[in-house]
Amino acid sequence: MAALKKIAAIPGDGIGQEVIPQALKVVQATGAAIEFTQFDWGADRFLADSTTVPTDGFTMLARDFEAILVGAFGDPRIASNIHAKEILLGMRTKMDLFANVRPVRLMDESLCPLKSVKPEDLDFTVIRENTEGVYGDSGGVFKLGTPDEVAIQEDINTRKGVERIIRYAFEYCSNSKKMNGSPRRRVLMCDKSNAMTHAGGLWQRTFKDVARDFPKIETQHMYVDALCMQMVRDPRNFDVIVTNNMFGDIITDLAAGLQGGLGVAASGNLRPRHTSMFEPVHGSAPPIAGKNVANPLGAILTAAMMLAHLGLDQPARKIESAVLAAVREKKTTADIGGTLGTEQAGEWIASKVSTSKDLDY
Ligand SMILES: NC(=O)c1ccc[n+]([C@@H]2O[C@H](COP(=O)([O-])OP(=O)(O)OC[C@H]3O[C@@H](n4cnc5c(N)ncnc54)[C@H](O)[C@@H]3O)[C@@H](O)[C@H]2O)c1
Repeated sequence: MAALKKIAAIPGDGIGQEVIPQALKVVQATGAAIEFTQFDWGADRFLADSTTVPTDGFTMLARDFEAILVGAFGDPRIASNIHAKEILLGMRTKMDLFANVRPVRLMDESLCPLKSVKPEDLDFTVIRENTEGVYGDSGGVFKLGTPDEVAIQEDINTRKGVERIIRYAFEYCSNSKKMNGSPRRRVLMCDKSNAMTHAGGLWQRTFKDVARDFPKIETQHMYVDALCMQMVRDPRNFDVIVTNNMFGDIITDLAAGLQGGLGVAASGNLRPRHTSMFEPVHGSAPPIAGKNVANPLGAILTAAMMLAHLGLDQPARKIESAVLAAVREKKTTADIGGTLGTEQAGEWIASKVSTSKDLDY
């Protein structure tokens, strides 16, 4: 019997509260030795008692749990979005979850808005730097609200931060396989070093330095604008992409569009050998929250990614094949062509998982 793995579940706001229960149900259906503890961090808690993150909250998560499964944060009642910032960005930076890993896989040809792109054509991973760049809230505003207002948003890039994310991308490329079992071969670094010369120069030099330690891996470089065009013209040749926080944020939404939309995209916020956090790529989607229409597949695939990260490969694969079956049989929500509600789609997958044979763990 495998040792029980302890997971913190934080559904958060909006559709996070609908999709995370489906993910928990599906994980439980695998029979994996997982114990979930739920936390109420999010907008309701903040509005009730002004708490964003309870005292020592991040320390507790790192100490008591092997992973964290998160829904989404963002609520129209909190215009400043302060709770989302403190919980989500806080978790990423204070727990030093420096590698944002977003697999981009096409489960079925019907989900891709591009012509003639098949599942085997779209199978790459974006590795986004998660703790630096322009999201560190460094900068300020001068002469606020006047015609002379000046706003400065600083872009922080450290050698340590750049090197560790690039090295992570090369290690990921060395150790992971495509869905068809073939090895990954190439790391592409995406930047805008022609215009942003200082930060870009650091990324360029570091990429070349780290690449020397991985002689078997091919390297490639693209400016972010050219990469966006290539991704919609022909996404077939991407393999592993490494980039900074902001470019990663943008290109992963573009990539999510290619794989069927935000409802199916999964991600992990990782710090090797430490408690890591997993979340669907989508936000809290206030207009559709509470209507039982949100697609739970992104959250369910995120849970599978978390299990694989914890070494539970068999339950992870079981969930992925059940999700694939749901997509092929159109047992899904309306955003990707089905007729089921959030709960019913989760139920279908949980039942597929619990009745599939073959695995022993
Ligand atoms: N990681 C996060 O917690 C996160 C990420 C992005 C946005 N947000 C927050 O979420 C709120 C809404 O932001 P937004 O509208 O820019 O992004 P969003 O991802 O919530 O929604 C974008 C669009 O995608 C649709 N969508 C998203 N997830 C879906 C799902 N599972 N099923 C079906 N359709 C889905 C929405 O209906 C909407 O049309 C804001 O407060 C924002 O700050 C949070």
